[in-house]
Amino acid sequence: MSKPRVLFATSEVYPLVKTGGLADISYALPQSLRQLGVDARILIPGYTEIVHHKQLHLTVVRDHLNIFSSLNFPARLLEGIIPHTDIPIYVIDCPELYVRDGGPYQDSKGGDWLDNAIRFGVLSKVAALFGQYEYPSLFEPDIIHCNDWQAGLAPAYLHFGSQPHAKTLMNVHNLAHQGVFGPEVVTLLNLPPQSFSMFGLEYYGLMSFLKSGLYYSDWVSTVSPTYAKEIQTPTFGYGLYDLLAHSEKRLTGILNGINVTDWNPETDPYIAANYSHTNLNGKAQNTLALRKRCKLDNSRSSATRPIIGMITRLTHQKGFDLLIPVISKIIEEGAQLILLGSGDKELEARLQAIAATMPESVSVTLGYDEEFSHQIEAGADIFLMPSRFEPCGLNQMYSMRYGTIPVVRRTGGLADTVVDTLPSTLDNRTATGFVFEEEGSKTLLNCVLRALLVYRDKTTWKNLRINGMTQDFSWKNSAEQYIALYESLLNITA
Ligand code: ADP
Ligand code: GLC
Repeated sequence: MSKPRVLFATSEVYPLVKTGGLADISYALPQSLRQLGVDARILIPGYTEIVHHKQLHLTVVRDHLNIFSSLNFPARLLEGIIPHTDIPIYVIDCPELYVRDGGPYQDSKGGDWLDNAIRFGVLSKVAALFGQYEYPSLFEPDIIHCNDWQAGLAPAYLHFGSQPHAKTLMNVHNLAHQGVFGPEVVTLLNLPPQSFSMFGLEYYGLMSFLKSGLYYSDWVSTVSPTYAKEIQTPTFGYGLYDLLAHSEKRLTGILNGINVTDWNPETDPYIAANYSHTNLNGKAQNTLALRKRCKLDNSRSSATRPIIGMITRLTHQKGFDLLIPVISKIIEEGAQLILLGSGDKELEARLQAIAATMPESVSVTLGYDEEFSHQIEAGADIFLMPSRFEPCGLNQMYSMRYGTIPVVRRTGGLADTVVDTLPSTLDNRTATGFVFEEEGSKTLLNCVLRALLVYRDKTTWKNLRINGMTQDFSWKNSAEQYIALYESLLNITA
């Protein structure tokens, strides 16, 4: 049997447009699938940074896309290859919807674009048209791999459309974001009235892109086995746990991998010195360079102060409000803290105010900086992720690869990737980090204190580093699981 052909419908892809882990996955998974013989291609909206990208060399493959009868925007389909890869990318060129200053989902002040329902309704609809073999001379996918709510209407369009040949996989990266809009959107986006039902995309009187994806898709996947279980409970299920629990037999958790080429301390061009698990010497140079860059206390005595790194979106999910009350205690215990992130304006202001009171120990950089993120991974000693929930999480895996010990809450993909340091896990050499159970400032602080204590024991610390650096987080294993899932979907008869 030949390998399935897959259209990967996504709202972001590294290195073109990235707000979080979805972009990394949208780049790495199609690439790994292609290495395993699957013809995987990407479909994405034509945001400013994509249509004006100098190295993308996009060509027009469909001049006039007739998408919704009620909306008359000129739209075209473009085709290119993601630079330095062999991944084909289809781009929906519709300047009225996508070419504007700001991010993919929000304007520059952080407010959601008011026409997001239309912007991502169009993405979903074009994905479905591929699945109805609307573009036969371009690509005829067997599977439409729908990522997050932005592609969540594609399964509904296929369900109600003519000649739906492709199967659909709804891949949930984060159940907290659901794409919920007023009921009028159903008609606006040319969905049939019967779809607006409890057994459809209706969600507490509103319409939900994600519920559509969960309900009408052939299968649902999420990005770690633990998160797949968690979202079937009221705490993590965001009003959809019942539907997910009922869909349990068609719900799979597949752990994300990481891009081990770009995230490799032996070859990383962004860091001060390269190093490996067999020669860790370069790590200290990165620590020194990081302290200098962040203008932290660099005196001789600071050499014994561990640096705690954090790189993240500043949202409720990531647990910053739990960290803030204990920062001064963590600093008193001898650590330094380096944070790179952006998001919630109130959190940004509170963190900046803390940094201003102890600039020799705390550095806060607001914004997005890919290069700096590599330098933090290489230079920090500890990486902190006190997430309330974390569907998978990538930075804990980047950290282990860089010999930087993760301190994490036991949830989602963090629970599936980090092994707590205990006498037994030290003995059998599986310990890779420090894990705490309960959400709260006190439990977080205690876990950081445990890490600071072990940091003083140089031999044990080195062993933890080596255990982490020798883990295999490459995509191959996960991509093989996706291929098996695609193949099983193709065997399901309607
Ligand atoms: P999420 O998708 O929930 O944000 P992940 O851990 O899956 O969390 O992925 C986050 C990705 O975004 C990582 O690659 C991380 O390094 C990157 N990232 C987040 N914030 C920043 C930032 N301010 N600067 C650079 N990279 C960032
Ligand atoms: C989401 C999740 C994150 C996950 C990423 C990629 O943004 O918050 O945990 O790693 O998607 O799947």
